[in-house]
Amino acid sequence: KIRVAVFASGDGSNFQALLDNEDLVCEIVLLVCDNPGAKVIERAENAGIPTYVFDPNEYKSKLEYELHLLKALVNAEVRWMFLAGYMRILSPLLVEVGEDRILNIHPSLLPAFPGKDAIKQALEAGVEKTGVTVHYVDEGIDTGRIVAQEEVEILPNDTEKTLKERIQRVEHRLYPQVINDVLIEFSKYDKGI
Ligand code: GAR
Repeated sequence: KIRVAVFASGDGSNFQALLDNEDLVCEIVLLVCDNPGAKVIERAENAGIPTYVFDPNEYKSKLEYELHLLKALVNAEVRWMFLAGYMRILSPLLVEVGEDRILNIHPSLLPAFPGKDAIKQALEAGVEKTGVTVHYVDEGIDTGRIVAQEEVEILPNDTEKTLKERIQRVEHRLYPQVINDVLIEFSKYDKGI
């Protein structure tokens, strides 16, 4: 199986959905977390998945902590990276190393509402629908090539909480499915060297 790392910063419900999906064609060999208090760490520990947890405040620069992180990714022989609620922009270094092998899931129909608080942004904009996007990660903020999108209707009485629940239900189904599609497609062309 293809060895992958999942990156998350908080609750980790998307990480959990990947763990729980029995059809996943990859093996999660590392959880990367930039928030030592995050619930997602507990989820990894319960599942016996190794973790790489760091506190960015303890480093002088992004380059410094990413060099350490890179070492952990290389040691774990990680081939693909899946961002799932990782609330930090990757440096050009990691994007370059990951070279079209990094996906992210975002709770809006990109290019609408990039960055933080996408659900709140959609509610405040008064639009009738929003959704979920899975895309490749490049050096911009949620600007990489889109792989899949699914719409979620915004209902008149929606609050951030209710809309988030419906969006996440879609995310938990869509992300494992798209990851599988991308990896299966990729494996057709990756004959090694
Ligand atoms: C997810 O809804 C994900 O789409 C979003 O954070 C949430 C994390 O939830 N990501 C972003 O907003 C990225 N800009 P989780 O920790 O329960 O998976």
